[in-house]
Amino acid sequence: MSANTDELFGIYVHWPFCAAKCPYCDFNSHVHRGAFDEADFVQAYERELAHFAALTPGRTVQSVFFGGGTPSLMEPRSVEAILSAIARHWLVDPRAEITLEANPTSVEANRFRGYRAAGVNRVSLGVQALRDQPLAELGRRHTVDEAIAAVRLAQSIFDRTSFDLIYARPGQTLEDWEHELTEGLWLARDHISLYQLTIEEGTRYFDLHRAGKLRMPDEDLSADFYELTQELTAKIGMPAYEISNHARRGQESRHNLLYWRYGEYVGVGPGAHGRLLINNQRHATATEKLPFEWHKRVGAYGHGMIVDDVLTWEEQGDEFLVMGLRLREGIDPKRFSRLSGRQISSQQISELRGYGFVETLPNGNIRVTDRGWPVLDAVVADLAA
Ligand SMILES: C[S@@+](CC[C@H](N)C(=O)[O-])C[C@H]1O[C@@H](n2cnc3c(N)ncnc32)[C@H](O)[C@@H]1O
Ligand code: SF4
Repeated sequence: MSANTDELFGIYVHWPFCAAKCPYCDFNSHVHRGAFDEADFVQAYERELAHFAALTPGRTVQSVFFGGGTPSLMEPRSVEAILSAIARHWLVDPRAEITLEANPTSVEANRFRGYRAAGVNRVSLGVQALRDQPLAELGRRHTVDEAIAAVRLAQSIFDRTSFDLIYARPGQTLEDWEHELTEGLWLARDHISLYQLTIEEGTRYFDLHRAGKLRMPDEDLSADFYELTQELTAKIGMPAYEISNHARRGQESRHNLLYWRYGEYVGVGPGAHGRLLINNQRHATATEKLPFEWHKRVGAYGHGMIVDDVLTWEEQGDEFLVMGLRLREGIDPKRFSRLSGRQISSQQISELRGYGFVETLPNGNIRVTDRGWPVLDAVVADLAA
């Protein structure tokens, strides 16, 4: 699979339910109370897949990603039904990466073998912290011991695993993080995602922050957290291949690479986004976010799509830069020209190079340097101008 091509194709399946809403999270996740017919919901996914398959004939699926919400609340037979539907509609590469996002409680860990049997070959666990007090503050329903047990179990069942940690948390010191991350890196096998806590509008953390009740690191300390994270991960051979994602060589998440390399993907389930290539035009799709509204729409129309926009050349170029410049491998300026019908200004490049924010690699790709990563948004805006 070559980098930066138009031939990457994957499927994102959004499962929108969670056992509880974490106070920092603004993902499309809903706590569902009362009776719920999972099999009936799964049928709606099958119908929506059929709709998107008709729009994308002849593709070969290279990755599937069950994200959420909390897909590990799904019964393994639901995962299997969705994977079977995918295999009925498209060719699936025998080496396809099939990832499922899981929460590390013991209840969910009990389903891991079932997911493996259903065809999942990679699990990504939301560990978030390796300290009990912060886990409780983050509203998590698992302890450190439970999380470690879930990671170890996942590692014994799946060839490929990853887990997420959130750092730069309220009150966390650099020293705390150094110890915690060191422990995390002992536990990690080949991939780890390390996210700086962001305060998202509409979350409980947003209100607490506004009320002055969260002690967040200032800009300098955030930069120090980031630098320390890069140092420790590089030292053990898991450098960043994207701002928040670290892997041993060859163990990068292929599905996430597909997004950042601006490939083609179908998004099914409530609030899922897609990018489809239809008649040489790139369509941005999105489905209804509310689970039961989405379900109703699928019943009525065969899909829950409420957005289907054809992207202009300019929009494609902008998206390509926003996504691709997050990657260590950088972007191919020739592909930018093909997508956007314009060139990146060589004057902009040399100015940014002068500041040490970007560099040109031997293969001609342009990438953001360590120095440029903290000001990535500004670099993207300059290059897109
Ligand atoms: C879809 S979410 C969570 C998957 C799963 N439901 C879980 O909680 O374990 C994917 C990841 O985004 C990260 N995340 C979510 N909200 C965040 C925030 N406000 N700041 C930083 N990271 C966040 C968490 O690490 C989380 O595991
Ligand atoms: S972090 Fe995960 S479990 Fe928590 S609300 Fe968000 S999606 Fe659900």
